[in-house]
Amino acid sequence: MSFLPQHEVPQRTKESSSSLNETNSSQSSSKSMLETSSNWGSSRSDHFPTLNFGSLIGCCLRRKQKDSEMISSLPETFSVNSSSSQLHGSLQRNTQHESSVIIFTLSEIMKATSNFSPSFKIGQGGFGTVYKGQLKDGTIVAVKRAKKNPHDSQLSTEFRNEVTTLSNIEHLNLVKLIGYVEERSERIMVVEYVANGNLREHLDGHYGIVLDLAMRLDIAIDIAHALTYLHLYADKSIIHRDIKSSNILLTENFRAKVADFGFSRLGPSDFDASHVSTQVKGTAGYLDPEYLKTSKLTQKSDVYSYGVLLIEIFTGRRPIEQKRDSKERITTSWALQMFANGKAFEVLDPRIERTSSASLLIEKVLELAFQCASPQRHERPTMKKTTEFLWKVRKDFQNSRQRRNSESRELCKLFSEKA
Ligand SMILES: Nc1ncnc2c1ncn2[C@@H]1O[C@H](COP(=O)(O)OP(=O)(O)OP(=O)(O)O)[C@@H](O)[C@H]1O
Ligand SMILES: [Mg+2]
Repeated sequence: MSFLPQHEVPQRTKESSSSLNETNSSQSSSKSMLETSSNWGSSRSDHFPTLNFGSLIGCCLRRKQKDSEMISSLPETFSVNSSSSQLHGSLQRNTQHESSVIIFTLSEIMKATSNFSPSFKIGQGGFGTVYKGQLKDGTIVAVKRAKKNPHDSQLSTEFRNEVTTLSNIEHLNLVKLIGYVEERSERIMVVEYVANGNLREHLDGHYGIVLDLAMRLDIAIDIAHALTYLHLYADKSIIHRDIKSSNILLTENFRAKVADFGFSRLGPSDFDASHVSTQVKGTAGYLDPEYLKTSKLTQKSDVYSYGVLLIEIFTGRRPIEQKRDSKERITTSWALQMFANGKAFEVLDPRIERTSSASLLIEKVLELAFQCASPQRHERPTMKKTTEFLWKVRKDFQNSRQRRNSESRELCKLFSEKA
């Protein structure tokens, strides 16, 4: 089953494919930017985009050997510096073995949401309906009420176990699960309320604010922190399974919080049209092709979705843009073609200011995103490596902006002295 249309390999890539293979075999520096065991030239999936990401990227990486050197020189492990303490500093793992989950009664939650009043409704998704609510102690929460599953008259043990696992997770960039309702066949989750809407709404400009490049990069890093934590540092490694822009919620300070980790296991089996209705769950456009093919889910499935999301964050486009011309319909493929043709800057969201720092940043971010969204699982970096790479990108971006600012200050000074 394929959600993505088949693509043709761009002409330019076909022409250069033999030299790409040479590159792959002989140049370890351009082979991989994040030390994945790359086999770009030969990687092709029968089921998933036939667009050869490997060849295209190989071609581009050859052009950008300098960048690759920078990338491959990244540390293998976290070092104790400001960036890593940023990750570790925000890790607040609940070391208690007892779960801190609260079991609410249905009537408590009905009170909190004024009987699930439509005026308290803040969203609707595959899991069910989301309400804003206020608990007895005044805490504002989001209440997620799952659609009723006719085949499941009792709350399953699996559901309860999952909720308990998830409630033990605490991280600055993850929406905290506060509790659940254990009554009749209701599946209700009570989670931390995040006040500033979801990332997709912001990319769509619903709030009249254009997220600038620095904000987008910070958001991307926040999400990477959250996923690294889920994969590596939670008591039990957790795969999110449904990374997408509507599951990224923003605080008033534009910090990102990832919602719904593990939720796709908790929801009803009959997900709506935006979800895949086979045993494979997730959202079209973000789904790991290898997961689709094999039904085997790994942490690299989240990495794939993250790659797609990275492209979405910086282009502003949805992963699938139904209304566009066929060449532009699959945003990842379109961005990859543009990148291969040396037009990386053109994929940047048109609302973002064009500067030399922006140009550098988008090239590096796209390179990373394509590697994350490689059709071949083994070619994708881990979330930890992805995070480390983004720290470096942010540092370079900040330095480049500072340089630009001091240069323009110097120029202003010169002009005012001459005047
Ligand atoms: N914790 C929360 N705080 C504030 N708003 C939330 C919260 N959780 C969800 N929402 C809002 O409700 C909307 C619907 O959420 P929901 O998770 O049900 O659907 P979705 O993310 O669009 O799809 P999916 O069900 O696949 O996750 C979100 O897009 C968001 O705007
Ligand atoms: Mg959601």
